[in-house]
Amino acid sequence: MNRIVKYAACILLLLLSTRLSAQEIQWETVAPGVWKGTIGKPESYNLLTAVGAKPALEGLKAAGDAAFPLSKEEITAKLRDGKTYLRFPLDKKEQLYGFGLNFQTVHQRGKILQLHVDHYGGKDNGRTHAPTPFYVSSNGYGVFVNSARYLNIYAGSAVLREGKNVPEAKDRNTDKSWSSRPYSDGVEILVPAEGVEFYVFAGPKPLDAVRRYNLLNGGGVLPPRWGLGFTQRVKTLFTASDVEAEAKAFADKGFPLDFIGLEPGWQSKAYPCTFEWDKSRYPDPSGFVKTMLNKGIRLNLWSNPYVSPQAGIYNSIKPFTADHTVWLGAVPDLTMPQARDILFGQLKKSQVDIGISGYKFDEVDGYDHYLWPDVTLFPSGHSAEQMRQTYGLLIQKYSADMYHERNQRTYGLVRASNGGGTALPYVIYNDYYNHEDFITALINSGFSGVLWTPEARASKTAEEWLRRMQSVVFSPMAMINAWSSGTKPWSYPEVEKQVKDMAVLRMQMMPYWYSEFAKYHFQGIPPFRAMNLEDGYQAEVKKEIKTTNLEENPYVEAVSKEVKDQYMAGEYLLVAPMFAGKQTRTVILPKGKWFDFYTGEYAGDGQVITVTPGLDKIPVYVKDGGIIPMGPALMHAPKPSEKVDLEIRYYGSKPGKYMLYDDDGETFNYEKGAYSFRTITVSKDAGGKLKTAVSAAEKGKPNTLNKVSFRAMTK
Ligand code: GAL
Repeated sequence: MNRIVKYAACILLLLLSTRLSAQEIQWETVAPGVWKGTIGKPESYNLLTAVGAKPALEGLKAAGDAAFPLSKEEITAKLRDGKTYLRFPLDKKEQLYGFGLNFQTVHQRGKILQLHVDHYGGKDNGRTHAPTPFYVSSNGYGVFVNSARYLNIYAGSAVLREGKNVPEAKDRNTDKSWSSRPYSDGVEILVPAEGVEFYVFAGPKPLDAVRRYNLLNGGGVLPPRWGLGFTQRVKTLFTASDVEAEAKAFADKGFPLDFIGLEPGWQSKAYPCTFEWDKSRYPDPSGFVKTMLNKGIRLNLWSNPYVSPQAGIYNSIKPFTADHTVWLGAVPDLTMPQARDILFGQLKKSQVDIGISGYKFDEVDGYDHYLWPDVTLFPSGHSAEQMRQTYGLLIQKYSADMYHERNQRTYGLVRASNGGGTALPYVIYNDYYNHEDFITALINSGFSGVLWTPEARASKTAEEWLRRMQSVVFSPMAMINAWSSGTKPWSYPEVEKQVKDMAVLRMQMMPYWYSEFAKYHFQGIPPFRAMNLEDGYQAEVKKEIKTTNLEENPYVEAVSKEVKDQYMAGEYLLVAPMFAGKQTRTVILPKGKWFDFYTGEYAGDGQVITVTPGLDKIPVYVKDGGIIPMGPALMHAPKPSEKVDLEIRYYGSKPGKYMLYDDDGETFNYEKGAYSFRTITVSKDAGGKLKTAVSAAEKGKPNTLNKVSFRAMTK
């Protein structure tokens, strides 16, 4: 009897605990279309608190309300063994995107990942520069797990014994349809903490979910105009006069240049660093920086954060550093204000105050031998794991604050980021160098709330060089990183003219890029993003299904072939990069008419086209009614008060509208309302004549428009 009672009590407890656990999630509406779920006792240190991310409430409100996109009952959370087990439902026909900056895949359904900040090691396994714990579904919703821990993700790969849609077990010996990866109807996430908070974002479209995620992070970064110009990183050990000569060569050859990056050699010691100028190579840093600024060229400094025992700040920062080193350099605990005051105080005094415009923060991602180990103790008490997941965020945040305090925008480079980092003014780069994979990373950056540059370093052939330069120009940072090669844009004489044309095109497109970044900031729309976020795309891609790793999974019928070599750049452009050795490629045009960017000619509508663009061109297509504002071919970004002429290019025949963003391009005055969106409209009347309008400049707002002309690209 006793045993029966005990047994019954056990069953009851078990039932209760399963039921209870599902009910333990506390739901809160954060903004229209954004909900926070809380389970257990979430840690106070998470991705959002690490950077103090503040939701862009106005943008979230403007994004509109929407119903909760999933069934709350089907979202479950359990606590066991000091860990949180999360489960989110999946439909048969859903595809998943995101889970950070992947380099080889866009489709994530079926994956098993451990999200872990690391240098990308050639496999999409969760170890990457920005392993953002955010995913988006083709069904039009998103989920973000706000944890600064290594997270195990089963993205539709773990099958419950008693799930809603459990496939039948099969006999491998006799049944050819047996699969090692049977269909799963859930995303499961193991969080190594006794509780966590997570967010659910409504659509209705996948892009709406991405927008809401970015806005929860505070909205995308708005770079200074100069950040969207051209940048060259010079060879290590360059001297002040080498740098001046480099700038002169650009000017003499008529190549645009907005900022130069100094690589190791500007500091007296590197790996670990002193954060002090090397006086033999830079005898007069302040004079040098001034000379460069007078030429219209800003400077960006490479550094890693590890403090050399020979650094002037070593003794004072030591108490606020970890017990393990990186290359014998002390690791500042950037969660401690004391460490930040000393490190950033040094950068401010020695560099920012004399006019340095930004930084490239290297080596904050990993390769385990290149970082502190997980057994490291940090004086703040944050674990090595938490520090690893957030160090890139912290260095971005606090260096950006230095500039914010000066009311001066910056735009730099970093090798690690994470969820929470969308608003930070940094672009991710790495040492990997596969052109195709760089483009896939660019696509995935749009799902991860980060920016990525497919930097050009050097190439085996002139053809490859030109192909890489063409991609770089259609990316968040148009950069050559010649730290090791010493390459110049004109290093391959056979393609010098074509490379120059691309650099000039980048400058002409600045009004477009700048407006698209403003949309990233105010509306959360990633300026570079996957085709999967484009209207009319899903409908088109029922052909060529090759996915084989999810045989039993019927969703493959309805969802696209994975496309990882073409992307959307801003509101209207579809970019299809060419890779060395290829003369031809296919391009998938979503539904609706598309036009050639260079000629305005009709290219297709909801179809797969094959193109042979020649060496000079990177294939780019414009949506029907597309409006591309083009500026002059300047050598440097315009100054705050400089007025520029605009040529508004119009494609196709549909009435078009464009929101052109304008502000001073350099300060944070836009945060106080000193900006405007000018409405440009273009349509064709019955006789084919253009009807155009630009809304008047708002009184008291910055206005950098001079003469405006219109050009119908499609005849
Ligand atoms: C690497 C970095 C390169 C370059 C180099 C200089 O870690 O990824 O872009 O800066 O350091 O030593």
